[in-house]
Amino acid sequence: MDAKAWWQDAVIYQVYPRSFQDSNGDGIGDLRGIIARADYFAWLGIDAVWFSPFFASPQADYGYDVSNYTDIDPDYGTLADFDELVAALHARNIRIIVDFVPNHSSDQHPWFLESRKSLNNPKRDWYTWRSPAPGGGPPNNWLSLAGGRSWEYDQATGQYYLHSFLKEQPDLNWRNPAVRDAMHDVLRFWIDRGVDGFRVDAIGCIAKDPQLRDDPPNPDYKEGDPPFARNRMVNSANRPEVMEFVAGMRRVVDAEPGSRVMIGEVYLKPAEIGAYYGTGSDGFQLPTNFNLLWAPWKRAAVFEAVESYEAALPKAAWPDWVLGNHDQSRIATRIGKAQARVAMLLLLTLRGTPIVYFGDELALEDIVIPLDKQRDPFGINMPGKGQGRDPERCPMPWDETPKGGFTSGEPWLPIAASGPGSSVEAQRDDEASMLSLTRRILALRRSEPALSRGAWTPMTVEGEVVAYLRSDGGKRFAVVLNLEGKRKTVRFAEANSGRIVLSTHDIARTGAVGRDLVLAANEGVVIAI
Ligand code: GLC
Ligand code: CA
Repeated sequence: MDAKAWWQDAVIYQVYPRSFQDSNGDGIGDLRGIIARADYFAWLGIDAVWFSPFFASPQADYGYDVSNYTDIDPDYGTLADFDELVAALHARNIRIIVDFVPNHSSDQHPWFLESRKSLNNPKRDWYTWRSPAPGGGPPNNWLSLAGGRSWEYDQATGQYYLHSFLKEQPDLNWRNPAVRDAMHDVLRFWIDRGVDGFRVDAIGCIAKDPQLRDDPPNPDYKEGDPPFARNRMVNSANRPEVMEFVAGMRRVVDAEPGSRVMIGEVYLKPAEIGAYYGTGSDGFQLPTNFNLLWAPWKRAAVFEAVESYEAALPKAAWPDWVLGNHDQSRIATRIGKAQARVAMLLLLTLRGTPIVYFGDELALEDIVIPLDKQRDPFGINMPGKGQGRDPERCPMPWDETPKGGFTSGEPWLPIAASGPGSSVEAQRDDEASMLSLTRRILALRRSEPALSRGAWTPMTVEGEVVAYLRSDGGKRFAVVLNLEGKRKTVRFAEANSGRIVLSTHDIARTGAVGRDLVLAANEGVVIAI
């Protein structure tokens, strides 16, 4: 077995800190709450936790608008709490990955408050300012990913500033070396405090066309697509210069002793993800692969998502897989709770590093948020986005009480659920639960490296069944997933001599397969061959 970096064998668990555990009754999850739940991570069997931002922030975009990159927001705690969190995780052999938001700061960041003061302020060029277009109006046609235009007029100096997301999130100008130095210092700050990696936010946006040329219209735009998709974002994002700035970050991270991972948030098709690995040593180790998030839950589409990505990976690039995050409808809502079990088995038995969104191990579903309780500005700003991203951000139900054991106060969003009995407390002692299943798959994956690092080979079986082989050294496993709610019989030569080691459906189901493999409705199995 060749040696792998820790992040290649790891299962990463994403925590949205505002919704994990409140410790002081203000209805907002916090670091002390997370510390109190540290045993849960270890018990579940994950290897690393990525935390969405808990840095100082006015919370216009719930932490993705940072007003001080090197402090913890009082909503979440203090730097001393952070140090304790690092210690609590490391004591349990769990790594910690923090969010890094390089593309934009908050409009309340001291850098921006300076920058907006005058045309010749020393920080003016830390952001992108432009005079109105000749006929008046914004300097170009760029559209914000949070809805509306990406330019905001500022009366004080009669210029517009650029914001790829909310107007409260002005874009930093990475072409300015002073900005790069300041942001590199941020990386060093968190490395010194013990982090094992960074998840780098919205990376495709950090370099823009130097001449700020218009984006061309998108001929493929369809009714129902988000408003920003009216343009092809070729001048406002995903430019090749992005990788120079990524290489700079990677140099800083690699210069410090220890092994750290950089995960880049990229929303791209398989053929385009490859570029974000760079040469291997100057890009991301894990640019996010969201293709399973978008795949219709059909055999052909799931295979296409896996195979096209595997085929497009640069040599030596390590894959990663995502089924949910704080920006996307929950998997159990997208494909149903029964198939969410099958999806968890898929996620945890593909080749590469899975990233599990908190609560998906409980098969939590999106919560419908009454209009007057909506929080996410994306939902409020963007007609067509409906509820925005609140439904997938609701707090963790730890027990069956009305406040789920999350808080003693008023939770900032309604507690998440998927019907009665969906809490951790209810599921942990039920062997048939989603939580117990997730734990079993994680344990199997840990004991059988073929399931994580082994070769992945698709198999052909009939109907809506996804089947593949995983092999490493002398060990081989078949994973067979029934994507439909009806019972099926499948046959394939490898299974004849195989033995079932895990079923999503029936924990008692083990033993020889024989000539026919009968799959119950919505059942996935792992077969040792
Ligand atoms: C990323 C984050 C999202 C945030 C946006 C702006 O896409 O995942 O939550 O709103 O960047 O920072
Ligand atoms: Ca709190």
